[in-house]
Amino acid sequence: MRAVDLFCGAGGMSLGFQRAGFDLVQAYDSWEPAVASYRRNIGSHVWLYDLRDVFTVGPMLAALRPDIIVGGPPCQDYSAAGRRIEGENAGMTRAFAMYLCIVRPSWFVMENVRQAQKSHAWADARQMIKAAGYGLTETVLDASWYGTPQSRKRLVIIGRLGERDGFLAAALAAARSKRQTVVGDVLDVPQGHFYMRPFGGGRGVRSAAEPAPAIIRTSRERPWSKYLNSPHPDDPIPAEEAAILTRDQVARIQGFPEGWEWGSATSRDIDQLIANALPSQLAEVVGRVILAREAGTTIPVVEGSFLQWLQRRGRSPQSARNVKSQCNRARRLLGGKTHTRIALEIEALEAIGDFQRLEVRTQSHLRTALRLHADFLLENAQRRGAPPMAITCRVA
Ligand SMILES: C[S@@+](CC[C@H](N)C(=O)[O-])C[C@H]1O[C@@H](n2cnc3c(N)ncnc32)[C@H](O)[C@@H]1O
Repeated sequence: MRAVDLFCGAGGMSLGFQRAGFDLVQAYDSWEPAVASYRRNIGSHVWLYDLRDVFTVGPMLAALRPDIIVGGPPCQDYSAAGRRIEGENAGMTRAFAMYLCIVRPSWFVMENVRQAQKSHAWADARQMIKAAGYGLTETVLDASWYGTPQSRKRLVIIGRLGERDGFLAAALAAARSKRQTVVGDVLDVPQGHFYMRPFGGGRGVRSAAEPAPAIIRTSRERPWSKYLNSPHPDDPIPAEEAAILTRDQVARIQGFPEGWEWGSATSRDIDQLIANALPSQLAEVVGRVILAREAGTTIPVVEGSFLQWLQRRGRSPQSARNVKSQCNRARRLLGGKTHTRIALEIEALEAIGDFQRLEVRTQSHLRTALRLHADFLLENAQRRGAPPMAITCRVA
């Protein structure tokens, strides 16, 4: 799949998608050090552009016809480390939505801080994206459960044209690792503990057997005398005895590999580029989940409560289980794709050769199973007062 990265920074997100198997064809950022770093490590397809200029960039992107647009619009207006006043940066979330409406790629991924989900900017962007026909999976993912030695919780919104909301939630949950990745998995910390500058009154000293806290620009600063004089009561060892991580080590925690080159950037810029990134390991997992669905090798999970719903409507437990497995069979034939309208879903099913070769009776069972599941989803959504089939999930 051909991918474009908007607000690409130094390329954390692009790196992950590239590793997952995407072909990065274009990337944009308005900050010279970001573009220079991206160019040195990922490729020359990166452009220094102000993405507020939708008139110029919109037609360029539309001509490229990418299969997917990914991006992390700036988050300073929302982030816990920022001021939380919605201003120009939040407007970039709206710009991201405008590009989706202009280009209409099959897929998109937008990443941001958790706080963005409740913002006016996302509410506006969401409205545009829904009107353009995208089904959404909106999740908060903790990177430490996706191969990254860092407890970094990010809002990850995945959209695909024509899908039902929530279509990828179960696949993302299934991609979660069995245990959290910890700092000791990627770095050698002889002291066994490291200090990382906390914000918001948190603990400064961590064991290498834990994930690091979310990386910020100042993460690798030494403890100030204020901290040393009044350390956090839960620090396992005194901050003076803990390792201070180097820039390379912090970059590794953020998913930049050894040997990553930072282009024409000041020391402060480099720390900022690192802090801005989406950990490449998390991006890679998200990319793989998308490719698997695109290839039809995963299907959305049918909710367990569907069985009870069927039984409440008079089906025996065995008959309810049969409907569920027929629903799964239909979904596999559909290559995991869902449709917002059941009529479209049945039409898509009937166009599939493997379906046409089934016995008429089996075909009828599969159609009925999909219709029942659609009724179930609609009833659930109405009960919650949500727009039909809107499902927002929280994976981690
Ligand atoms: C959160 S960072 C993106 C990090 C990137 N996804 C990564 O994984 O490394 C947001 C980026 O948006 C860029 N940016 C901010 N305003 C912009 C604008 N008007 N046009 C283009 N890029 C902009 C910043 O320079 C910054 O690199």
